[in-house]
Amino acid sequence: MQLPLHHAFIECQIAINLKKITMLNDVMKDALNAQVKMEAESSQVYLAMASWAEIQPGLEGVTQFFYRHSDEERMHMLKLIGYINERGGFAIVPALEQPQLTYPSLRHAFKELLAHEIKVSNGINELVDIALQHKDYATHNFLQWYVAEQIEEERLARTLNDKLEMIGDDKSGLYLFDRDILNVGATQNAKKGAA
Ligand code: FEO
Repeated sequence: MQLPLHHAFIECQIAINLKKITMLNDVMKDALNAQVKMEAESSQVYLAMASWAEIQPGLEGVTQFFYRHSDEERMHMLKLIGYINERGGFAIVPALEQPQLTYPSLRHAFKELLAHEIKVSNGINELVDIALQHKDYATHNFLQWYVAEQIEEERLARTLNDKLEMIGDDKSGLYLFDRDILNVGATQNAKKGAA
């Protein structure tokens, strides 16, 4: 059934007004898009770490850990893209630079992982700050998932760095580290699943 013209006009106005209400402001939208890029970069960095680990002898566990971690970062990125578009913005798929391809040692790779996670946490904190400045409570609420996630990710990265520091160059220690790392990840995923 065709609506009378004035009804169609009113419906159209309501749709426009709703769009305005749910629209992200430009500052918030740009900041969220910057985070899309950071998560995409994280995924690439960990993918490169996985590829590097895969050609090292005896690092099967570490290799799987980095591949999984790369997938998780892509999921973080997709969640942001979905949110930006849902709120009337436009999520920009970014161009990425080639990440570091090789590492002098496992310890170097995991130090880089921790440094990267700290950078991501700072990015998330910055977003929370912007959301509060602009009284964007929906985005503030959305970001709480990332705040909790970063606590876990930093904790995991620090734990793994501490273990590697303790192991040093001890080969049997590294063997156990590689064997156990997937359990560390599995425990973390189980906790996330239960949350
Ligand atoms: Fe999505 Fe590890 O930060």
